[in-house]
Amino acid sequence: MPDHAPLLQVERLSKRFPVAGRRGALLHAVDDVSLHIAPGESLGLVGESGCGKSTLVRLLARLMDASEGRILFNGEDLAALPARQFARTPQRGAIQMVFQDPTDSLNPRYTARDTIAEPCRLLSGVDARTANERVDEVAAQVGLPPELLQRFPHQLSGGQKARVGIARALAPRPRLLILDEPTAALDVSVQAVVLQLLDRLRRDLGLSTLFVSHDLNVVRLLTERVAVMYLGRIVETGPSSSVFDHPAHPYTQALVSAIPGLGPRIRLEGEVQSPIDPPPQVCRFASRCTAVHDRCRREAPTLHADGLAIHQAACHVARWPARFPVQAAAGLPA
Ligand SMILES: Nc1ncnc2c1ncn2[C@@H]1O[C@H](COP(=O)(O)OP(=O)(O)O)[C@@H](O)[C@H]1O
Ligand code: SF4
Ligand SMILES: [Mg+2]
Repeated sequence: MPDHAPLLQVERLSKRFPVAGRRGALLHAVDDVSLHIAPGESLGLVGESGCGKSTLVRLLARLMDASEGRILFNGEDLAALPARQFARTPQRGAIQMVFQDPTDSLNPRYTARDTIAEPCRLLSGVDARTANERVDEVAAQVGLPPELLQRFPHQLSGGQKARVGIARALAPRPRLLILDEPTAALDVSVQAVVLQLLDRLRRDLGLSTLFVSHDLNVVRLLTERVAVMYLGRIVETGPSSSVFDHPAHPYTQALVSAIPGLGPRIRLEGEVQSPIDPPPQVCRFASRCTAVHDRCRREAPTLHADGLAIHQAACHVARWPARFPVQAAAGLPA
């Protein structure tokens, strides 16, 4: 496989949940999502609560089965294996996840050492001694002092529990680390330290990361590319600098306007479209969009690129960056 091939290539991935009490109705949590992550690349995933971020990353970590689509990891389709079977394959260790709440995701009866060693033993089939050596190694990498390894979660601070969660994810030597709101449950004073740690680990270990957050400022600083999700779909994607500095989709424009110091805030009005059986021909953002017009209710927009194909948006009237430096340098029309 050539070096420039993506590590992860997601093709037309969907997840629909049955709706309790409504026979035949389906909630479209993830709808026709395609994305890719290169080796060592950091992709951000943003969007408001309930738009499908956690469902998408749980599909990618193979914690649940997709309704449709392919998850090509290093060229192999992981979605073809049922989640239960996948949990027993060697590839299981290659994609690891750091969960939102370190307290919820740690077993209260396990010491930090047991927690970190567990996936290592399960995934790599190594003996207890080798697993223990690996625990010492990753504990040092995440800055967890050896004396804390014998402690149980209730004897650790929030920041220390977060480090245990990160060490557990690193133990089986993953190539892709998925971070689902990794600092949302932490005190503000600890958040920056944990984010810096994650960024340093990513660079030092050459990891690919998928970083889910509702904190756009953090995503802007820590990711190279970003995907914006709205009601199960990716509505905009591109280099983080381009998407944050020149958002093309009206939804992204509103999101970005909420970052303090970036000009006047655009307040979204109107009801959010229900994710249950959304009409296929209508733009899902139409109910809140100030630029809505007739075509938006007859033809759902699909992702299409700007002139240089590095920035994509799903909107009939996407407002492309007025002037990319590279576009200007190439003498192309802005
Ligand atoms: N197991 C489930 N069963 C039914 N609906 C679900 C399930 N998990 C998530 N959903 C629904 O899918 C949508 C996306 O949820 P989620 O992926 O958690 O969004 P986010 O992480 O962006 O907040 C929501 O409407 C949520 O209620
Ligand atoms: S396609 Fe229409 S409704 Fe949808 S975001 Fe664009 S302008 Fe708004
Ligand atoms: Mg979530």
